[in-house]
Amino acid sequence: MDSTSRRKFIKLCMTSVPALILAEQAKAGGTEGNPPVSSAYRTPNSLQRYIDPLPIPKRLAPYAQHKDETLFHVRMLEFKQQLHSQLPPTRLWGYEGHYPGPTIEAFRGRAIEVQWENHLPSQHIFSIDPHIHGAMPPTPAVRVVPHLHGSRTASESDGLPEKWFATGQMAHYRYPNDQVAATLWYHDHALGITRLNVYAGLSGFFLLRDNTEAALNLPSGDYEIPLLLQDRTLDDLGQLVYSPTHEDGLKLPQGTWGPEFFGDLPVVNGAIYPYLEVEPRPYRLRILNGANSRFFNVFFNLAKGPTDIPSLVPFHQIGTDGGLLPRAVALNGVLLGPAERADLIVDFSGLSGKSVTLSNNAAAPYPGWEMANMHHERLYELMQFHVTRPLSGKTQVFDMATQSFFEKLHEADSVATRDFVLAEQLDDQGHSLGVRINGKDYDEAVTELVKLGSVEKWRFINTTDDAHPMHLHLVQFQILQRQGFNPTTFRNGSLELVGSPRPPAANEAGWKDTAIVNPRDVLTIIVRFDGFAGRYVFHCHMLEHEDNDMMRPYEVIA
Ligand code: C2O
Ligand code: CU
Ligand code: CU
Repeated sequence: MDSTSRRKFIKLCMTSVPALILAEQAKAGGTEGNPPVSSAYRTPNSLQRYIDPLPIPKRLAPYAQHKDETLFHVRMLEFKQQLHSQLPPTRLWGYEGHYPGPTIEAFRGRAIEVQWENHLPSQHIFSIDPHIHGAMPPTPAVRVVPHLHGSRTASESDGLPEKWFATGQMAHYRYPNDQVAATLWYHDHALGITRLNVYAGLSGFFLLRDNTEAALNLPSGDYEIPLLLQDRTLDDLGQLVYSPTHEDGLKLPQGTWGPEFFGDLPVVNGAIYPYLEVEPRPYRLRILNGANSRFFNVFFNLAKGPTDIPSLVPFHQIGTDGGLLPRAVALNGVLLGPAERADLIVDFSGLSGKSVTLSNNAAAPYPGWEMANMHHERLYELMQFHVTRPLSGKTQVFDMATQSFFEKLHEADSVATRDFVLAEQLDDQGHSLGVRINGKDYDEAVTELVKLGSVEKWRFINTTDDAHPMHLHLVQFQILQRQGFNPTTFRNGSLELVGSPRPPAANEAGWKDTAIVNPRDVLTIIVRFDGFAGRYVFHCHMLEHEDNDMMRPYEVIA
């Protein structure tokens, strides 16, 4: 990997450091293998906000073009990248040596192939908990398997967790792109270490386009911005720290699995507290929550400080995980659990000279309770939009009414209802041993066999205190409803629904591949298992949960 092209990617400018403060040299001296930190750098908690431009991931160039298929090569590499201009470069793993990875763009109906190559070193950045499923020696510490989240692919190309490959190996996957335009993303999925591999930097956007979407004439080019929201913790040398906690917020010993991880710093497209200069006009923002455990409830705020009364910039949501909504929805804020996406139109017209802060008020853990909340940074601010650019030409007229035709799935077509009880296992001290689905481990025999082409209702019954973003591979589904249940009668084996069923909010009434099930709630989704027969998985997308064993296989039978 040539390091110049890597460095070109992030145009973080050292000349913008206004005040130099001394880094903690004492600590710097004590860390093996790292050069002493220059006094030009700051510590992570004294970073200045909004001095680094938002990086926009480059589009991945094809490796070869065959008749009607495009071939890409993607190498997974270790490299260094500055996450903030006041920090030394951070050791990361990334696709093609970038964090986030380059954006893969594809068009509906035109298949692409990707050769995924593992060029990572044989030592992992983080210590591995060998008690977690699939992570026991002699399994190699460094192993990867890329998954294209939200795509309908054959099982062999899905990136199943157990299909990992070690350093020096590769996999060749095919993506048919036979589905509507959507904001998809690719990320690592290796069994038992997904949380560590994604945390190290292995994720990127995959934008699938089509003619329906093109006809809307939505803001594009410089006016279409993908935003990958994540959180990271750094040591005083600017290096990644993976430090999961118990649910009460207590830190766990190094290298031990913990039920959740919340970083101290917001990272957007690989930069800490970045800013983007925008024109006073509408933008299309494709927001992806790519965090391990953190939920983001984002809003656009004109107020100066996080404690000032918010002054909201209203916006529209035009799409969900799996494509355009039946109609655009006016909103003041949008909640995204890990892996969820929101396709937004935000209009900066009339805001010339103003700064708009992309803000967040989701509790960590979500939905949160006082005790644990105190232990984690809230990350009230994520990035800023500076409306400083002059309007370049006329803003084009576009149509955001979105899909004139939207295929709603009907309950009457459902041939089966499956129940999945989400329950946490606790040790004597009340600490989590992981969450299970129907009490089963991942490697127990497949219990869900669904017929290709059939429609089913799946109900997730959440007996835990946390919200869980539940995700199915292969399909895009629709949310039917959410409803509370009586936990007391449930303990005795009967599911008694209480309160009124809540249909999905207008901005969730589209194609979803990940949906939040609240504590003490039942989430019902309707799914058509279209496309391919074969083995797939479904799981909670909080990566700590997924790794310890909140994941189950399912099989589509032809
Ligand atoms: Cu985003 Cu099974 O994954
Ligand atoms: Cu997925
Ligand atoms: Cu979970």
